[in-house]
Amino acid sequence: AEPLTPIRDTLDVPVGVAIDQRETSGAAADLLTTHFDQITPENHMKPEAWYDADRTFRADPQVGILMDFAVANDLRVYGHTLAWHSQTPAWFFTDEAGAPLTTSEEHKQLLRDRLKAHIDGVAEHLADAYGPFGSAGNPIVAWDVVNEVVSDDQQADGLRRSEWYRILGAEFIDLAFRYADAAFNERLADPGADRPVALFINDYNTEHAGKQDRYRQVIEGLLDRGVPIDGVGHQFHVSLATPVASLAAALDRFADLPLTQVVSELDVTVGGTADDALLIEQGHYYRAAFDLFRARADELFSVTVWGLTDDRSWLTEQSPLIFDAGLQPKPAYYGIVGSDELA
Ligand code: G3I
Repeated sequence: AEPLTPIRDTLDVPVGVAIDQRETSGAAADLLTTHFDQITPENHMKPEAWYDADRTFRADPQVGILMDFAVANDLRVYGHTLAWHSQTPAWFFTDEAGAPLTTSEEHKQLLRDRLKAHIDGVAEHLADAYGPFGSAGNPIVAWDVVNEVVSDDQQADGLRRSEWYRILGAEFIDLAFRYADAAFNERLADPGADRPVALFINDYNTEHAGKQDRYRQVIEGLLDRGVPIDGVGHQFHVSLATPVASLAAALDRFADLPLTQVVSELDVTVGGTADDALLIEQGHYYRAAFDLFRARADELFSVTVWGLTDDRSWLTEQSPLIFDAGLQPKPAYYGIVGSDELA
């Protein structure tokens, strides 16, 4: 059989995939390194992954496995994520007695200190183990600094009502970027290097009008306040019913801002259990989506799919990815690379 065209050869920006250690060995690793330039740790760099039960900061063992795999295979690493309302230790938001933090100045400062210590801890660990950011041995190129901070409902300030928000208000977002900028972009091999770690805000449903309005409002606020942000993340967890034109519209909406954009978590559900017809329709969807990303490559930082194979997806029953459980290319793959296998 003809060798498969690597997906990464068909796009002028790095193509990434979300993984854990299961994709770092054997045939899955071979498939990954053939088609992708970049990895995102799907779960193991999230806030809760950095603490053991007694609250001691330490790297999850998978951090080393994923980073070493990236170094060995010349892959970039996209960090996910520093501040989130989910998968964060509950004690971040409680006092010594286990009671919820209040909005007293003392408690606010405690939470600011915890956020800073967390981000510093992550940066320090990665720089100690792999060298300064921007140096040859350190594959980190970006972080989702804040994840899913925009409200799904109408709110005057556009922000999700999370524990971060309840205690610190909108301030926690600015602080996360400022702490991350200092921790990553000031811990450099070459002090003259130009922001080797790109700092992103990331969210879902950015292709929906209301969410998109609120996202724009939040990002404009960050820019107005001089917050060090480099880019806008679009998760794009979409379905066959999501017009590809709405993905283009989502990119259009932020194109005038002095920021790059990233497709951070792409997958395409088929609306039920997949059959041949749906998989072919999905192939055409992926083809149109990647044609869009190719046309907009100079505006994009990277394009990441949220998993390597359907059996490993968070939406596994809807077969949303490019390769099947047997590591075989689906029509989605043939669509992306423009092959005649998908007519
Ligand atoms: O680690 C435990 C394991 O010890 C236990 O045996 C197992 C039993 O269920 O659960 C494991 O934790 C699961 C974890 O994935 C690792 O597999 C959690 O229950 C499960 O909730 C978690 O789901 C992840 C989800 O984020 C959590 O919010 C998904 O894998 C991950 O794909 C998903 O990713 C998110 C992005 O971070 C943000 N954007 C949306 C995206 C999809 O939800």
